[in-house]
Amino acid sequence: MKFGHFDDEAREYVITTPATPLPWINYLGTEGFFSLISNTCGGYSFYKDAKLLRITRYRYNALPIDSNGKYYYIKDGDTIWNPGTMPSKTPVDSYECRHGMGYSRFISSKNGLEANLLAFVPVDASCEINRLVLTNHSDQEKQISLFSYVEFCLWNAMDDMTNFQRNLSTGEVEIEGSTVYHKTEYRERRNHYSFFTVNSDIDAYDTSRDEFLGLGNGNAFPDAVTEGKCRNSVASGWYPIASHQINLTLQPGESRELIFLLGYCENPQDQKWEAPNIINKAPAHALIERFSTEEQVAKAFDNLHAYWDQLLSRYTVKSHDPHVNRMANIWNQYQCMITFNMSRSASYYESGTGRGMGFRDSCQDLLGFVHLIPERARERILDIAATQFEDGSAYHQYQPLTKKGNLDIGSGFNDDPLWLIAAVSAYLKETGDFSILDEMVNFDNQKEKADTLYEHLHRSFTYTCTHLGPHKLPLIGRADWNDCLNLNCFSKEPGESFQTTGPSEGPVAESVFIAGMFVKYGKEFADISRLSGHEDLAEQAESAVADMYQTVLDAGWDGEWFLRAYDAEGKKVGSDECEEGKIFIEPQGFCVLAGIGVEEGLAEKALDSVKERLDTKYGVMILQPAYTHYYLNLGEISSYPPGYKENAGIFCHNNPWVSMAETVIGRGNRAFEIYKKTCPSYIEDISEIHRTEPYVYSQMVAGADAKFHGEAKNSWLTGTAAWTFCNLSQAILGVQPSYKGLTIDPCIPEDFGDFQLTRRFRDAMYYIDVVNPDHVQKGVQKVTVDGKDYDGCLIPFEAGKKEYHVTIHMGA
Ligand code: BGC
Ligand code: NOJ
Repeated sequence: MKFGHFDDEAREYVITTPATPLPWINYLGTEGFFSLISNTCGGYSFYKDAKLLRITRYRYNALPIDSNGKYYYIKDGDTIWNPGTMPSKTPVDSYECRHGMGYSRFISSKNGLEANLLAFVPVDASCEINRLVLTNHSDQEKQISLFSYVEFCLWNAMDDMTNFQRNLSTGEVEIEGSTVYHKTEYRERRNHYSFFTVNSDIDAYDTSRDEFLGLGNGNAFPDAVTEGKCRNSVASGWYPIASHQINLTLQPGESRELIFLLGYCENPQDQKWEAPNIINKAPAHALIERFSTEEQVAKAFDNLHAYWDQLLSRYTVKSHDPHVNRMANIWNQYQCMITFNMSRSASYYESGTGRGMGFRDSCQDLLGFVHLIPERARERILDIAATQFEDGSAYHQYQPLTKKGNLDIGSGFNDDPLWLIAAVSAYLKETGDFSILDEMVNFDNQKEKADTLYEHLHRSFTYTCTHLGPHKLPLIGRADWNDCLNLNCFSKEPGESFQTTGPSEGPVAESVFIAGMFVKYGKEFADISRLSGHEDLAEQAESAVADMYQTVLDAGWDGEWFLRAYDAEGKKVGSDECEEGKIFIEPQGFCVLAGIGVEEGLAEKALDSVKERLDTKYGVMILQPAYTHYYLNLGEISSYPPGYKENAGIFCHNNPWVSMAETVIGRGNRAFEIYKKTCPSYIEDISEIHRTEPYVYSQMVAGADAKFHGEAKNSWLTGTAAWTFCNLSQAILGVQPSYKGLTIDPCIPEDFGDFQLTRRFRDAMYYIDVVNPDHVQKGVQKVTVDGKDYDGCLIPFEAGKKEYHVTIHMGA
């Protein structure tokens, strides 16, 4: 069952009912000002950091679900309704929500009145624009009152939710014409404030929530709206809001356009403070000035379109499969950009107050956005690397605003360091910009401890080499990619957090997954070393990688698949010997991706075992059989009920690893079969089962052991976005950036047909035609570049050359 449809032409998903299985959201914002917005107008805004600079308030675990947002109440006679239907939930006569690239549009009508609400954040301004057009389609004159509503958050979202004894006395507002300023914290010289304004005269306003709603009311039918009269309340402490009342008379056929602006401002650095509680309104006035007319707003919206046109034109595919085209050209790349902006901080499943930027997460996200925004990827790499410690280990998470490592979580996830090599090698291949390796980067954000980025990579690599266990496999530390595989947490007391307290490192527990990573990214480190003139280190690295390769064959192979780990007592994890958790997905995908066991015939065996034991119609499960009880030696993984999350859920993130691994051994049919199972567009028809947004990936789909097999959770902020884009663009469609140029070697299903691709690579455009007359799954028979025959699949990049016309003839 569907709850809407794709409009590929407009690059929108069109939701046709407010009653979606879960809130279906979108993100607004590209640089500093961000908003989450659901299909019923729920959500919130923040500046740069969802924890530290939260602009509007949101309530988690609220009833009804998703009941705070930026709302517009329309009072038309006795009827009170909202364009997105929430919070009044008054049934409307028509409804449509169009989530597009950086904007959402709501078109609904009631009793002959149409509301067309467009919400977006301009590319270069710290504000959200809400353009509301009301049109009277009836044949009667209408006298209506419109009420806007935003509830301010007292900035630090965590404090806002907990520290009432203080913050119920800190709220301050100021009203100037149609503008409500929210200036809590300003007197503390924190230098920032927000405002909510409209480009019209207003009839009244409210800034005290309790006055507007009526104490004891929810926000569905505020007293002020029911009575048709705001109170002109001026909040002092308690709960500051902003509401404008605008009374309108609309003749039949008449429209009225209003522009609401929610802005975030900071005092210019060099500006003197007049008095600590008198806000400097100049920045707000300037913003309001920029977006007060219909033309200005239309232009800002055009600019937003141009921004996305530019980004999405860097990689486009034309194949016979509309799902592939839609995901590759629009939604998958869009989601990659959202993960760039949000990492794991703010979604409807991440509160914005917990995890900020993840070290491993952001490194992996980069694989999906580096081709879109190489300059910002460069900056991101330097930020991430600065949270690394001198011994090569790294803070697991950091705060986006301060860019400082999160001390509560600390370090000790032994896969983290290697992801930095993954990110940097992807950046170097994409851009050819080796100068980044010479950048001086702090350790632990401390200037006194800086060294070059190359040296950071060297320490990443060395960290694994110096943290090996009894089998010479890498020690797992607190966990590897699988955060919940806590093999050293056996001594924790019940109720103690698995990952944040207690002993985290042990001398025995080892990870075969990190071994696979080491082989894959160790080779990258060797290549980077050689290309940057560190020949000795290149050779050392190659020899360490060769040893690890052999170690995996000796101690990491279980007979039919790769073993997952050894626990703190040296017992096998993910082995046929185990009663539960016999086989895990991660090492099968990653070891094969690293090339381990390909020549030895083990890769095929491992992937066949995955198909036989882990596959379901909704995707490949992370492990089987599920853990049915808690295991002291395994930790959080066995704390989940069977079928959910890391305990035998379908973790969408590592499905592409297996799909890519299939392309390594040339099985295009199977690679694509796996791709399709979790691909949002392919499963749109089962939205009532899948439940999360059908235009983006979710972190997890419940596995076969779960009561709700096929149900997804944790949409949007997941490494799945980056890895599925890598899978589709690089492994299946086969266009891979490499240090010297673009390598083109597709691995597709037999019936996929021919396809065309355009790709920007460095400063050139590649126009690529792939023909496959013999319907092979893999194999390039002939290559032409600019009409001339060419030897091999690597098309070297030549500086100065701006266009490449490439034809790839696949064949046996
Ligand atoms: C989740 C993991 C997540 C971890 C972060 C766990 O509860 O299941 O997916 O990575 O928390 O700390
Ligand atoms: C989600 C986390 O963000 C990611 O870092 C981790 O690898 C996966 N869960 C698996 O545990």
